[in-house]
Amino acid sequence: MADVAPVRLKAPPAVTVVVPTRNEADNVRPLVEQLREALGGTPGEIVFVDDSDDHTPRAIAALSERDPEGVRLIHRTGAERTGGLGGAVTAGLAAARAPWVVVMDGDLQHPPATVPELLAAGQVDQADAVVASRYRTRGRVTGLGGAFRRIVSRASGTLARIFFPVRLRAVTDPMSGFFAVRRDALDITSLRPNGYKILLEVVVRGRMRQISEVPYTFQPRRAGESKASFREGLRYLRHLTLLRIGATRHPASPLGRFAGFALAGAIGTAVNSAALWALGEVAGLPYLLAAFLAVQVAIVWNFAVIDNLVMPPGEHARRRRFGRFLLLNNTLTPVHLGLLYGLVQLAGLHYLEANLLAVVAVFVLRYAVTSNWVYGA
Ligand code: GDD
Ligand code: MN
Repeated sequence: MADVAPVRLKAPPAVTVVVPTRNEADNVRPLVEQLREALGGTPGEIVFVDDSDDHTPRAIAALSERDPEGVRLIHRTGAERTGGLGGAVTAGLAAARAPWVVVMDGDLQHPPATVPELLAAGQVDQADAVVASRYRTRGRVTGLGGAFRRIVSRASGTLARIFFPVRLRAVTDPMSGFFAVRRDALDITSLRPNGYKILLEVVVRGRMRQISEVPYTFQPRRAGESKASFREGLRYLRHLTLLRIGATRHPASPLGRFAGFALAGAIGTAVNSAALWALGEVAGLPYLLAAFLAVQVAIVWNFAVIDNLVMPPGEHARRRRFGRFLLLNNTLTPVHLGLLYGLVQLAGLHYLEANLLAVVAVFVLRYAVTSNWVYGA
């Protein structure tokens, strides 16, 4: 029998590792080396999605030249750089060729040795996603910097779990940027990435029947610096709210928008009552004047909340939106004060009670007009 050498078909990758990078020039080579070692015989590809301004793309290209199938580079420039970190991850998910995708940072804070554990848990548990968690037993945080960051990270995670108690039931670390997901469980076009918290998008919008977790220890950054910021924190709050009320689908669902508006209104009502109490009871102003000022306080408060968290970005400049908002809400102020006056003088209610009733009565009217006039929806 002739000794025919078998044709070597290059195995399709079993796993795609997506690594978002921004200015990680010194980290990419050790990362690739450690990933290769961690994956061992598992055929895999690494897809870097890079938004750098330094020479990181050159460092990646050099690695890719030696192993074009194993290391791929998506270099985003200019207008392609949408969605920040989350946008980069989404682009990587879209380019992935393997049935399982692992997402991890490029600065070695996520240990490559955990990657096989994520994949194994996915198999054993027949999971749709496996999250690497800092908060499972055995997992620890050593690299998160000061106590402040640790508290912020914990609080953000807890907030996410309050917003999504069912979806995040099994997830102790919703802030994790280190996870594995079955590509089939995701409809990538449904993702609306917005800054750092791409895992939330994946878990909330994906078809997740089973989510598992694997503990890991968050390592100190190897080189370079973190891109997290207060701004990212605000972006996160906005993202969470939009995700919850379904408003990231444009146009926003009217029901979700109404819910967001109502929630903001409820808090605004509390602000209004507190201001009225302070102005009327503490400062001793006449109740109608106190009520007028309390309305102004509440309007400013409501605008800040609604404009930042609830409404999708409008087409007008913020100052113009605020101008309209103020004007509009004040066109209803005579109605508000009229009702208040009537309820106090004619129905004999205490002005604090009467004010609450007036707020509720005006609220429905205000919602209808605002959503039409300020946001044109
Ligand atoms: N492509 C791209 N575009 N990559 C980015 C961008 C961006 O705009 N911003 C940051 N990255 C990359 C970084 O280069 C790094 O590889 C990874 O995303 C994480 O960024 P860091 O700036 O190192 O984030 P961190 O260490 O503060 O945050 C980590 O902890 C969070 C949990 O607290 C990350 O693991 C996050 O993913 C995680 O959510
Ligand atoms: Mn980092």
